Amino acid sequence: METSSPIGFFDSGVGGLTIWKEVYQLLPFEDTIYIADSANAPYGEKTQQEIIHLSKKNTGFLIQQGVKLIVVACNTATTMAISTLRKEFDIPFIGIEPAFKPAALKSKAKKVGVLATKGTLNSTLFNETYRRFGRDIDTTIRVGKGLVELIENGKKDTLEMRELISEYITPMVEHGVDHIVLGCTHYPFLRDLIQEITPNHVEIIDSGEAVARQTLKTLNSHHILNNTKQPSQHKFYTNGKMDVLEKLLLDCKGENYSINTYKP
Ligand code: DGL
Repeated sequence: METSSPIGFFDSGVGGLTIWKEVYQLLPFEDTIYIADSANAPYGEKTQQEIIHLSKKNTGFLIQQGVKLIVVACNTATTMAISTLRKEFDIPFIGIEPAFKPAALKSKAKKVGVLATKGTLNSTLFNETYRRFGRDIDTTIRVGKGLVELIENGKKDTLEMRELISEYITPMVEHGVDHIVLGCTHYPFLRDLIQEITPNHVEIIDSGEAVARQTLKTLNSHHILNNTKQPSQHKFYTNGKMDVLEKLLLDCKGENYSINTYKP
């Protein structure tokens, strides 16, 4: 493995771009390869077996492309598949899970809202975190059904989206939460819309920055950080809508990129 090898990312679609953006901001000299497995989105409604199968396929493809580390830029795939990936592939993995712990520790009202996929909320990993840190927290949990599909179809700024967000977020606000955890990597794209219907004192948190910091730490500990200070190149693969990916990538300030068809 070379220090100049790229970092790999995969998600069930374009959501992981919100993680890619944080990693790119912190590590601008690292090349990256990103898979948006949009044809199989949403992962959140699939069985664990299906998610493990898709995650192994994405991992195999990234390793073939010569990546040095893989960021599983998807809460659902992390909570359902990362332990299998770590057992079966000899490469460092960084995972992401809903930021329930910091929300629970910081909440003054002791009331927290969590919005995530069905798969993540049913996972052992999330439930362990919830049991450990949620004992004295009044938690309002919602499955964000339909949100991923609308984002994948370029319907982020629609009335339909606003109505769904209101359906999921308003009960949390009415219940008096002071933290809302965005437990799916697609949801930070909805931050502005969520903020519109949320009082200012409510903190909306995701795990992007923490994942970027962890990526830096892991590259350092494996001695594979790229120190060349050359402009970086970014290769995106999708089996979904290229225009949707490109638009969101530009929102994430992506540059020096190519977008390719994902056919593993
Ligand atoms: N973006 C993903 C996550 O963080 C997956 C959403 C989905 O495909 O259901 O959970």
